[in-house]
Amino acid sequence: MVDDSGWADLVISGVSKSFRDPKGAEVKALAEVSLNIPSGEFVVLLGPSGCGKTTLLRSIAGFEKIEAGFINLGGTRIDLLPPHKRPVNTVFQSYALFPHMTVAENISFGLENEKIDKREIKSRVAEVLELVEMSELAERKPSQMSGGQQQRAALARALAKKPKVLLLDEPLAALDLKLRKTMQVELKRIHRATGTTFLFVTHDQNEAMALGDRIAVFNSGELVQVGTPFEIYTAPTTEFVANFIGESTVLTGSIDSRIFTGDGLKIQQIPNQITDGSAKKIIIRPEAFSLLSGKGSVGEMRIKEIIFAGDALEVLLSSSTGHEVKVKSDVSILPQLNVGSDVELFVDATQIGQVN
Ligand SMILES: Nc1ncnc2c1ncn2[C@@H]1O[C@H](COP(=O)(O)OP(=O)(O)OP(=O)(O)O)[C@@H](O)[C@H]1O
Ligand SMILES: [Mg+2]
Repeated sequence: MVDDSGWADLVISGVSKSFRDPKGAEVKALAEVSLNIPSGEFVVLLGPSGCGKTTLLRSIAGFEKIEAGFINLGGTRIDLLPPHKRPVNTVFQSYALFPHMTVAENISFGLENEKIDKREIKSRVAEVLELVEMSELAERKPSQMSGGQQQRAALARALAKKPKVLLLDEPLAALDLKLRKTMQVELKRIHRATGTTFLFVTHDQNEAMALGDRIAVFNSGELVQVGTPFEIYTAPTTEFVANFIGESTVLTGSIDSRIFTGDGLKIQQIPNQITDGSAKKIIIRPEAFSLLSGKGSVGEMRIKEIIFAGDALEVLLSSSTGHEVKVKSDVSILPQLNVGSDVELFVDATQIGQVN
């Protein structure tokens, strides 16, 4: 038997790309980005506006010429091929459906260009429409459909070509929050049903956590961390990642004999994996703290703000040096808290991490 493991793996290796701004200055959109994506994985590219996410997708699709590195798909180098020769397809934020064509015509159009047999086209159109649960709307035109339906049609059109990799550039950004959440579940189902590799761009951390098998976090053209949502959330390696994914309190100080001192706080029983020394940066997620009772007292803190979020309380505290600490707490203690008063803060030290 032929071992075809890794056959459709996408390998991005040392990819760099710069642009010139109107004044002629160099903008580094991608700086030596390397990322291996096994076939069938759902990877989310996450990062703030302008960090290079779209540039990476366009480089894979063939709309940008990379300056350094290479891109392989299934063992074949694709970065030198013209876009139409690459076995990838893109779904854009603006659905880019042809307005004068029905959904079915939109889907079959791309296949006709590829000179695929008519009967095969018909069966593929039916197949992808069923996949996105749009069979009933096949004869509608884009203007006769909701945003969510147009997005499904765009997805069906991209999948009909049976790409090895589907590139999705903020495809849900135009939808309202409720519809976006529904579409997230749909996307996961469709991903599972097709087994296609999905490379999905977003700047929304919740969307990234909800969708990705793995998340690749970008900042200023650099890939700063890759991992499962759990790894990225529980063990961010940099302050940027810690603050971009979820909220956290970052404290700077020194650790001596398992005691952290800094930013007006003293925390006992720092985990052993964080070594002694000065200028240490530790991060603490809001849910690792507790108020009024708990383990590991940090001492008295002043309440700056209380935000009732329905299922949780977010409390902003201020240390003696004015450093801000974010706490997520059970709503039951709300009656005992007042802005401006002091409260005892506790922390579960086992949940403390370290960043650079
Ligand atoms: N054609 C171009 N000419 C000049 N600069 C460009 C060009 N395309 C992108 N850039 C710059 O390259 C950087 C990366 O852009 P890119 O579109 O990849 O960001 P992004 O992460 O997709 O951002 P967003 O979340 O806003 O879509 C930005 O600084 C952008 O201004
Ligand atoms: Mg973009």
